[in-house]
Amino acid sequence: MSFSAHEILEKNVGLFAILTVVAISFGALVEITPLLYEKQTTEPVDNLQVYSALEMEGRDVYIREGCSVCHSQMIRPFRSETERYGHYSLAGESVWEHPFLWGSKRTGPDLARVGGRYSDEWHQIHLIDPRAVVPESNMPAFPWLEKSTVKSEKSPEKLRIFKEKFGVPYTQEQIDTAKKDVEGKTELEALIAYLQSLGHAMK
Ligand code: HEC
Repeated sequence: MSFSAHEILEKNVGLFAILTVVAISFGALVEITPLLYEKQTTEPVDNLQVYSALEMEGRDVYIREGCSVCHSQMIRPFRSETERYGHYSLAGESVWEHPFLWGSKRTGPDLARVGGRYSDEWHQIHLIDPRAVVPESNMPAFPWLEKSTVKSEKSPEKLRIFKEKFGVPYTQEQIDTAKKDVEGKTELEALIAYLQSLGHAMK
């Protein structure tokens, strides 16, 4: 009996395909659904800080310039990575990231914990001319960042949207002073502030 039932299934491609999809979907639901409710993946880790208005502007420069095309921000739990970069990345570090910038290609080093690894001055020289500090570097130079100033008009709006849409705990004061906080700053300063803010929650 069971043999013939299986025979029907095997001879009927349409039915087989539908049942395969049902089986895979069920498996996926079992894997994914708990992650949406588990504290470990939905709650920020202790010490997680919101991005300041300037860091947020720097993050937008990072996205615009395509830094995440060459740099991941995702330390995997392998000895070779944790020895080099520090504690592996936790989901709770990314709950306020919209969009997340984990990246997938690693032409350059992972940047998840680059904050504090170098001085502001090192970053400044490196971003304007990477070969000045790392002779064998094949990272592109970004000299224009030094010459363009941050457009401050949208800064308060950015923080407000992160607060209202994504639940990032900005205070009204941070939103109100956002414009003033970034006014007159160069995109290079903003980008460096962002880089220096990365990864501190788990240090
Ligand atoms: C074409 C690929 C590529 C792009 C795009 C790129 N980088 Fe890099 N980056 C590298 C490589 C390769 C290195 C390693 C050599 C070096 O330090 O210059 C590196 C190194 C770095 C380092 C030093 C990391 C460490 O731990 O030593 C920082 C910081 C950095 N990049 C930031 C950035 C930022 C910010 C951007 C975007 C504005 C960017 N990179 C864009 C390839 C890239």
